[in-house]
Amino acid sequence: MADYQAQPYDEKLDKLTGISKETNRAHYGLYEKYVAQYNRATKDLKEADKSDANQIYSWYRSAAVDLTFAIGGVKNHEIYFGHLGGDGSPVDGGFQKQVAKDFGSWDDYVADLKAAGMAARGWAWTAWDDDFGKLMNVVGDAQNTFPVWNAHPVVALDVYEHAYMADFSTARPKYIDAFLANLDWSVVEESFKKIHA
Ligand SMILES: [Fe+2]
Repeated sequence: MADYQAQPYDEKLDKLTGISKETNRAHYGLYEKYVAQYNRATKDLKEADKSDANQIYSWYRSAAVDLTFAIGGVKNHEIYFGHLGGDGSPVDGGFQKQVAKDFGSWDDYVADLKAAGMAARGWAWTAWDDDFGKLMNVVGDAQNTFPVWNAHPVVALDVYEHAYMADFSTARPKYIDAFLANLDWSVVEESFKKIHA
């Protein structure tokens, strides 16, 4: 099977307001590492001797758990970089309508997303849940915690320190405001359209 290829760096990321080019370039480098390690772990697991797999201590267990960490690192960052580069203005469309239904108002939604971003140790996502038929904000800690089955993330807010420490020191609220000010909601609308047919 061919290796998974990293999405190319989009130079629009060099021109964000508040989140610097240096931060985004270094951050993209981390994403490339997730892609490389995803490919490596996938290959290693396929070729591994499976006879020693056990839940207490085994090579297979370690690799399988860390494979999900790498997958999260790939997917989360692709959403993150993919929807930065806008001006933060909400866009008319199905996502905005669904937000009104599920959160009451746009402002209530944004307030909840900010709270999720402050409560998380790694990620906050807005996800569409196929089973419950609603949007929700989900708190994540590491790349692989805590996904919800059949929920599709359309917004991914990275709150790992590497996303903001160089630009905002420990002022995470300022970084979250900058993230929202640079968000391209038309990308979110498109993602939502794809998964909410
Ligand atoms: Fe990150």
